[in-house]
Amino acid sequence: TGRFTFDPGFMSTASCESKITYIDGDQGILLHRGYPIEQLAEKSDYLETCFLLLNGELPTAEQKAQFVSTIKNHTMVHEQLKSFFNGFRRDAHPMAIMCGVVGALSAFYHDSLDINNPQHREVSAMRLIAKMPTIAAMAYKYSMGQPMMYPRNDLNYAENFLHMMFNTPCEIKPISPVLAKAMDRIFVLHADHEQNASTSTVRLAGSSGANPFACIAAGIAALWGPAHGGANEAVLTMLDEIGSVENIDKFIAKAKDKNDPFKLMGFGHRVYKNRDPRATVMKKTCDEVLGELGITNDPQLQLAMRLEEIALTDPYFKERNLYPNVDFYSGIILKAIGIPTSMFTVIFALARTVGWISHWKEMLSSPYKIGRPRQLYTGYAQRDIVPLDQRK
Ligand code: CMC
Repeated sequence: TGRFTFDPGFMSTASCESKITYIDGDQGILLHRGYPIEQLAEKSDYLETCFLLLNGELPTAEQKAQFVSTIKNHTMVHEQLKSFFNGFRRDAHPMAIMCGVVGALSAFYHDSLDINNPQHREVSAMRLIAKMPTIAAMAYKYSMGQPMMYPRNDLNYAENFLHMMFNTPCEIKPISPVLAKAMDRIFVLHADHEQNASTSTVRLAGSSGANPFACIAAGIAALWGPAHGGANEAVLTMLDEIGSVENIDKFIAKAKDKNDPFKLMGFGHRVYKNRDPRATVMKKTCDEVLGELGITNDPQLQLAMRLEEIALTDPYFKERNLYPNVDFYSGIILKAIGIPTSMFTVIFALARTVGWISHWKEMLSSPYKIGRPRQLYTGYAQRDIVPLDQRK
């Protein structure tokens, strides 16, 4: 290819240097700023993980209190933002709403969009992390035709999200600590994953100098696809379609058939050629949540477990190192919490916002160039226009 390396899908191209997240796909290791994901899921919480991703270190008690308080300062959205929702059909996919409304935030903060000003970058990061749960819950309430709920700053991040999702002005129920903890853990497990498609999209958009809200909207759009964040929704749709254990073999055969576009959703990963460590924590959380909710013999969980068992012993999946990924069990937990399937990818976007913004900030904090991949041209050589009346 002459002067360029041809690498479709970026199979072997590092697009940047980064100090944020390390993955060893062969060993199934995921570290954020050096800390294993298992420890973060067990001993930390989402906002602490946000601080870590953004700043490089876990916060001290004082720093954590300050960070939480700053986030709480920004949880509300401008009243005018509500009008954007009314432009959508009630049955719009909430990810479509998220792409539009998050991008629209840029129109509200003209005075702090100088990407070369570190304070502007900081306040944009805080605004995005704080407002994503509010906007996500508003998208859900809009689809339900229910009044939108204001954030409550006496609640923690996950509790507040569940409050805005499930409470109504006429009935404010306390948020179950078990469900809030599970929600928080799902946020931690999705917080960052180095240069995946959506993060690379955010970096690429950011490399042109675009504002952070526009960049995050681009990330949301890239995340939506079923090969990426859309997989969590697709897993549940697939489990519904499979229906019962007797049908598993048929679907495994479809997944192996190269003439059939069907793939086993929630299986396989570009980087992990061993178990996705997030999937292990997710499965454990799933067992805990269903246990604490007293849900025994959840048919979809039974089906998922059997599917995993069968796939993991099948030579096709073994040869290709296809294991369950983070999205395989997350949907079962989200469903148990009461979250509708169409909101699953929105929750992924909410949680990944900190990863996107951390990478955007990292890029802008040191010298960078506009991202401008080259191509391998396979079209026509130069030719001349034939007048219209002579074309065949
Ligand atoms: N079901 C059946 N076959 C599969 C699957 C699957 N889920 N995943 C990969 N394969 C096959 C693929 O057909 C190929 O076979 P062959 O070598 O015979 O052509 C081989 O395994 C290698 O796969 P690939 O498509 O070349 O791998 P990739 O790195 O380009 O794609 C992936 C990775 C995640 C897009 C893909 O595994 C997939 O589509 N999985 C299902 C969707 C999914 O669960 N996505 C969530 C990923 S984790 C969360 C996130 O990133 O957002």
